[in-house]
Amino acid sequence: MSNPSLLILPGDGIGPEVMAEVSKIIDWFGAKRGLKFDVSEDLVGGCAYDKHGTPLHDDTMAKAQEVDAVLLGAVGGPKYDVLDFSVKPERGLLRLRKEMDLYANLRPAQCFDALADFSSLKKDVVAGLDIMIVRELTSGVYFGEPRGIFEEGNERVGINTQRYTESEIDRVARSAFELAMKRGKKLCSMEKANVMESGILWREVVTEVGKDYPEVELSHMYADAGAMQLTRWPKQFDVIVTDNLFGDLLSDLAAMLTGSLGMLPSASLGAPMENGRPKALYEPVHGSAPDIAGQGKANPIACILSFAMALRYSFDKGDEAARVEEAVNAVLADGLRTADLLGEEGVQPVSTSEMGDAIVAKLEASL
Ligand code: NAD
Ligand code: IPM
Ligand code: MN
Repeated sequence: MSNPSLLILPGDGIGPEVMAEVSKIIDWFGAKRGLKFDVSEDLVGGCAYDKHGTPLHDDTMAKAQEVDAVLLGAVGGPKYDVLDFSVKPERGLLRLRKEMDLYANLRPAQCFDALADFSSLKKDVVAGLDIMIVRELTSGVYFGEPRGIFEEGNERVGINTQRYTESEIDRVARSAFELAMKRGKKLCSMEKANVMESGILWREVVTEVGKDYPEVELSHMYADAGAMQLTRWPKQFDVIVTDNLFGDLLSDLAAMLTGSLGMLPSASLGAPMENGRPKALYEPVHGSAPDIAGQGKANPIACILSFAMALRYSFDKGDEAARVEEAVNAVLADGLRTADLLGEEGVQPVSTSEMGDAIVAKLEASL
C-alpha cells in the first residue's frame, strides 16, 4: 500500500518558519515510528500571487483535492494590501475551504498546565481548560450573495449577505454533536436569533439535530453573551458550535485563554472521501504575523499541534497525536518559551527552530 499523501502549503510571513518545524516532526515519524508520508509542497497566498498572479493556482487546487490531507501555514501580509480584492492572499485560503467543501472547522482551545499563569485571565479561570469550537467554514456572510461594493445614488454601499441553508446547518451541527459524544457530552450553540433570521433557523435546525443525540446536553446562547461567558468562566463549555463569522471571532478570543494565538491549532474537515477519510486541511488559527516574520520569533506549536490533529482525524493515529501533544506539554513544563509566551521573570526566549528541536527531542525521549 502506498504511503498517505500530504500537501504542504507553507504560505507567507511566519508560515514557512513554523512549517519548517512541522517538517522535522514529520521526518521523525517517518524515521522512528514507520509512519511515512508522501509529501509534496506548493504555494498559496501572496507567494503564489508573486509567482502566478493568483493566490491559488488551479494545479495547486487540483492537488489539494487529491491528497489525503493538506497542511497550511498562513497567508497574507502588508505587501499585498494594495492588491485587488479578488487576488488577495486570503482568497486563496477561502477558495481551498470552499472548493474542498471543508464545512466543519475544529478549533480546540486547551490550556497547558505550564501556561495557566500566562493567560490574561486569572489562573483558576483557565487552568485545565479544554474546549472545542466548531466553526462553520464554507457558508454564512463569508460567501453569501449578493456581495460587493456598489454605487447607490451619490454614494457607495458595501454589501455582504449572511445566508445559511438548513442542510448547511444540519451537517455542521452533526459534526459538533458527534464530537460532543466523544467528549463531555455538552454542546452550546451560539447565534443571534434575537436579531437575525439566519440565527432563528440555526437554532431550530440545531435543536432538531439534537433529537438524534439525546445523551448530549444542548444549550443555546446569543453569540455576544457567549463571548462574555467565554471570558467569565470558559470551563462551563465543552463543545461550541457557531457560524463562520462568530466562529472566527470567538476562536481568536479563545486563543488568549490558552496564553497565545501561537498555541491554537485547527482542523477543517469535509465529508468522507472514497477511502473513508474526511477531506481535510490543517492549519494554525493564527495568521502570517508580519510584525515578527523573518526573525525566528514565531511560536511553531499551533502548527505542530495542527499536524497532531491530522494524525488524529485523517490518519486514525490518536495515540501518535497524543505523543506530539505530550511532547509539547513536556517542553512547556521545562520552561521553554518562544517570545509570545514571555512574562515570567528571567526567562530567555527560545527561537522557532529551538522550540521545534526541543519538541523532537521530547518525542525521541518518549520511545
Ligand atoms: P496574526 O495572527 O498574523 O497576528 C496577530 C498577533 O499575534 C501578532 O502580534 C503576531 O505577531 C502574533 N502571532 C500570531 N501568530 C503567532 C505565532 N505563531 N507566534 C508568535 N506570535 C504570533 O493576525 P493579523 O496581524 O491580524 O493578520 C496578519 C495577516 O495574516 C493578515 O494578512 C491576515 O489576513 C492574515 N491571516 C491569515 C490567517 C491564515 O492564514 N489562516 C489567519 C489570520 C490572519
Ligand atoms: C482565520 C483567518 C481567515 C478567516 C482569513 C485569513 C481568511 O482569520 O482562519 O481565522 O477569516 O477565516
Ligand atoms: Mn481568524
